[in-house]
Order: sequence, then C-alpha cells, then structure tokens
Amino acid sequence: MHGYSDMTMRMKTINEIHLDFHFERVFGTRPRVFRAPGRVNLIGEHTDYNDGFVMPAAVGFSTYVAIAPRQDRKLVVHSEEFPGNFEFDLDHLPEKRVGAWCDYVLGVASVLRQQGRELAGANLLVSGKVPIGAGLSSSAALEVSSAFAFLSLTGNHLPLPEIAKLCRQAENDFVGAKVGIMDQFVSCMGKAGHAFLLDCRSLEFKFVPIPAGLQLVVCNTMVKHDLATGAYNTRREECEAGVRAFAKWDPSVHALRDVSVVLLDEHANDLPATIWKRCSHVVRENARTLDAARALTTGDLARVGELMHESHNSLRDLYEVSCRELDLMVEAAEGLPGFCGGRMTGGGFGGCTINLVREENAEEFAKRIAERYREATGIRSQVYLCSAEDGAGELN
Ligand code: GLA
Repeated sequence: MHGYSDMTMRMKTINEIHLDFHFERVFGTRPRVFRAPGRVNLIGEHTDYNDGFVMPAAVGFSTYVAIAPRQDRKLVVHSEEFPGNFEFDLDHLPEKRVGAWCDYVLGVASVLRQQGRELAGANLLVSGKVPIGAGLSSSAALEVSSAFAFLSLTGNHLPLPEIAKLCRQAENDFVGAKVGIMDQFVSCMGKAGHAFLLDCRSLEFKFVPIPAGLQLVVCNTMVKHDLATGAYNTRREECEAGVRAFAKWDPSVHALRDVSVVLLDEHANDLPATIWKRCSHVVRENARTLDAARALTTGDLARVGELMHESHNSLRDLYEVSCRELDLMVEAAEGLPGFCGGRMTGGGFGGCTINLVREENAEEFAKRIAERYREATGIRSQVYLCSAEDGAGELN
C-alpha cells in the first residue's frame, strides 16, 4: 500500500519558487508547498459511482497550496488566480458551502474535523493551474493539495487512499456534488508514464503503461460545465433507480457493477426507457474499460481506439452527457495523421476531449484539430499536449 510518507517529492520549478516568495510577501513567513495534479480519463466514464472501473491518468496541470501555521485559530485562504480573500474561525467553520472556490478547501477542513483530527490555525496561498470547468478535475486537485497541506501542519500521516476518500467526502457532503472516487484517487496516486485501472469498489488498482511514442492530446471545447448543478446528480439518481429495479430481479445486485449484459438485455423492456439507457451505458462501459486496459497493455491501439469511439457514442446517445461542441471536437480528430482514438473525458456537458496521438504527429494534430473545430463552431479552443504524471506530493 502506498502511504502518505512515500508521496512524491521533487524540486520546485521557477513558478513554484515564485509561489514561495509571494506567500512570504503576503504572510511574512516561509511556507511548505504541496502539489496535486488534475487528470484525464482515458475510458470508464460515469462508472466510478456505480462501483465500476475507470482508467484515468494524472496530467501535468497542478494546483499548489502553500501553507504555514498561525498562532491563533484562524484559517486565512488567499489565491493567486481566484477572486476573494477568506478568513474563517477554525472553531466555527461554516457547515455548508459558502458558494466560492474556497469551499473545496473548507470542505476538506470540515471532513478532517468530523473525523476527529486536529486542525491548526494556518495561512494558505493557493495557485490553481488546472483549467477550471474543463473536465480535468480542478476541484479534486484543490481538495487533495489542501488535504496534504492541512495534514502536514499537525504531522498526521494518512494512507493515500484515505486522503482520496476524505476529499471525495468533502465534495459530496460539503460542496454538494455527488462525485465518485476517480478524480481524487488518481490525483493522489498517479504515476508518470502510466494510466491507472481502478476498481472503484475494492479500490484495487493496476498501473497500465502508456505505450512509448504515444501522446495524450487534450482538446478544450471552451464550453464550461459545473458538476455541482443538477445534471450530474440526476444521472446518479437514475442509476440508483436502475439498481433498485435490478435488485428485485436479482438480489445479488448492489450496484450497476453487478449487472451483467445478459441481465441488462433480459429487462430491456421492463424499465423506463431513460433508466434503461443509463444502465446500458454503465454496464457496457465497465466491460469496455477492462477491455481497453488489456488492449493498451498489449499495444493494440486499434482496439483502444474502437473502444474509445464506442464510449463516446454511448455517452452521447445513452448517458446523454455530451454536447454539440464535444461531438464536433471528437469528429474533428477523425482521419488526422497519427490519431489513434478519442472521446469526451470527465463528467461531460462541455470540457475536453482526450485523444491518443502518435508523438511525431502531435503538434500538427493540435494545430489541425483547433482549425477544424474553429471552422465548425467559431470557437477558439485550447489544445494541451500532455503526458501522464506523478500524483500529489510536497515540493522541496
Ligand atoms: C466527474 C466526477 C468523477 C466521475 C466523472 C465521470 O469527473 O468527479 O467522479 O464520476 O465525472 O466519469
């Protein structure tokens, strides 16, 4: 098991050193600095909260939290990018979201306190470099870096999966987005050069090497989504309705993870159409994810590409979480040199697509897909050439 003590350590870059100086200018002391990355999900979408399988990778965009203790019981939270400076009394923290970015930091503090862990007065300076609302998990990156920072103050050591769980709880209970465990888990445990096949029921995982010569190209539609708004939570409720129905037919069903394709098809006409579509996506997406992990391991990129294509279509037609811009971005990749597979990534309703592209074609791919997307939509997109990176850690 990976523990908090063997988290990643690496030297600071120029930007990160700048955060130290900025902190010292604002608060007058030297901080410790923690970093947590965002992620892309290669396949396994909307399966995590159904006890299913996902295959994400941590990427090079990170959120940084610089922290130093205070002598009083105040929590003072500033950011380099986000508006507003916040000050809270540790002994009277808000019980619910205040409706600002600091909710992710407060949520973590609030769960740590619920767990009976000691909290100390602190100054925090946040620098968020994960694009917001782009489906790259800026929220998980902020939660995880905050959790590392808070725990460092009191010398509390927690295993990384526990940190991931407490961050998810912060987002579920405090922020009110009923997300699964994927984003927080991969932000904690990511490994450079690897994707990550995670069983969201047992939390067992296996690193899957990304074949040499393959680049992760992330294309931002620039259409923002907001998971805390209703649609995501509605999908969850629809899945729960599906579980209740299948459990009547087969009492061994506790989550959609337990529904086989045979059982699913047997009841195609017994469920309301919308519920059946949602279940059908999840059941088949789990199978696709396992299949994709095998294909990536053996370097069968043609198969990975097919599975990503099916995943996107299923998210568009059955789960109904894509949007016109995501569909156009996926189409824009088709036929470009070096393209091996692509789909929407993350919660949906906007955000990014993930594309597997041969390294030697990646720059040209980035240019051409941006042109095609602009012709189709009039929108100037952002395209990021990414690789799989290590999970969260302290900078020294
Ligand atoms: C968001 C959530 C994840 C997951 C994805 C969809 O990123 O945070 O838990 O449910 O959507 O796969």
